Amino acid sequence: MLPKWFNKWNRDNPTDVERPAILVGAVGTAVFAGIALVLLGQPFKTESLQTGPRGTAMMVTKFASEANGLGLGVPGFQATTSAPVIPTGGEELAGDARENVPPGLEGLTVDNYDRLLTAMQAWTGIPNLFEDPDSYQTTVGYIMIGMTRNLNENWDGHVNANGEVGVTCYTCHQGQPVPSNVWFDAMPLKATEGWSAVQNRVTPLTSYTSLPTDALRAYLLDYETIAVHDLESRAEGVPGQDGYPAIQNAERTYSLMNYFANSLNVNCTFCHNSRAFYDGAQVTPQWGTASLGIAMVQELNNDYLISLDGLLPPERLGPTGDIPKAACATCHKGYQKPLQGTNVIGDWPELATSGEVAYE
Ligand code: HEC
Ligand code: HEC
Ligand code: HEC
Repeated sequence: MLPKWFNKWNRDNPTDVERPAILVGAVGTAVFAGIALVLLGQPFKTESLQTGPRGTAMMVTKFASEANGLGLGVPGFQATTSAPVIPTGGEELAGDARENVPPGLEGLTVDNYDRLLTAMQAWTGIPNLFEDPDSYQTTVGYIMIGMTRNLNENWDGHVNANGEVGVTCYTCHQGQPVPSNVWFDAMPLKATEGWSAVQNRVTPLTSYTSLPTDALRAYLLDYETIAVHDLESRAEGVPGQDGYPAIQNAERTYSLMNYFANSLNVNCTFCHNSRAFYDGAQVTPQWGTASLGIAMVQELNNDYLISLDGLLPPERLGPTGDIPKAACATCHKGYQKPLQGTNVIGDWPELATSGEVAYE
């Protein structure tokens, strides 16, 4: 329907529309993507933390979107914490005024006991915790109070390594009767002699690799020594004989180290200088805190959690009938510091000591 003169003119003057269209489209998409990046943020943004001297590649880099841990987190703690009621003397004590007071809490004032009881019930997600003296949860709870006080009192160098942070029931439980990130044996132990017996199973214990599944048991329960790397020649010896570490020990160490890295959401250079894994003189301060953490977890499992054997009902036990055990991720839950380093003990001097509670 166009005028004749236009059709003629159009035929005489052919124009290339395709190339400019591609150009305009490409520039337009780039401008659009640029605006989207500015407005919505960079989806692959990374955060990095320098852990060693400049130029040594000692840094921990992670996607910002993965920087968050796995627990209910800090808001859940803030909603359940409250400042202590500083005693002025002459207050009624919980042991005289309340029923079924857990051993070790009788000397608290009624105000502080009620406060602590309410908090412990919220932290463990057990609304009637300690109200029924015959419940297994009450007995377990008694052990847990002693365990928490021990962690704060005797493992200060770990749980307050950088400043006051500490541990309460919430650090592990986060509102659940069974804390997240407890671990069980993945397969029956009688088979641990052979090589393949503890390997090649897809389990979270090995970060879904074919590495041995018994690393946590070996190093965080059975006190086995981690020593696989040095500068001596191995040419003379046979791995696994005459004091030479077995190849499987190297794999087991790597399995444990992967677990450490995942528990804290960091990489190897958070603790090591990767050119010298064997050398305790070329490590970061965090290596020292981690080293203390190994001893702390061994005690936690051997002196406290093992005593739950026989107390817990069958549905709480693992696939091979073992009790739930703790390790780094039970507290850390994917954070470099549990609850991002929130001071959880400041309000709860009752859980910081097994002796006389010191209110400021
Ligand atoms: C270091 C981590 C950790 C801390 C801190 C901790 N717990 Fe536990 N708790 C555990 C583990 C592990 C279990 C075993 C899980 C199970 O019972 O299946 C457990 C189990 C329990 C149970 C038994 C739950 C059930 O239904 O089986 C109770 C009750 C309990 N804890 C109370 C407490 C109280 C109260 C505190 C604080 C005074 C506390 N816990 C602090 C790790 C912890
Ligand atoms: C949170 C700190 C931390 C992280 C992260 C970490 N390690 Fe370790 N690593 C240690 C500690 C502590 C030891 C020493 C344990 C001991 O000797 O009791 C150790 C020991 C080792 C050893 C054995 C050294 C020897 O003397 O035989 C190797 C190898 C190793 N780590 C490799 C790694 C690798 C690979 C990674 C990353 C996947 C890693 N580590 C991540 C803390 C860490
Ligand atoms: C009972 C709870 C608990 C367990 C279990 C635990 N940690 Fe920790 N860890 C803490 C707390 C709380 C802090 C924070 C201390 C501070 O910043 O003052 C911490 C801090 C650390 C730090 C120092 C982080 C930094 O930025 O300086 C490292 C490294 C660490 N833990 C490694 C480990 C390893 C490895 C394990 C397992 C072998 C482990 N932790 C088990 C509670 C725990």
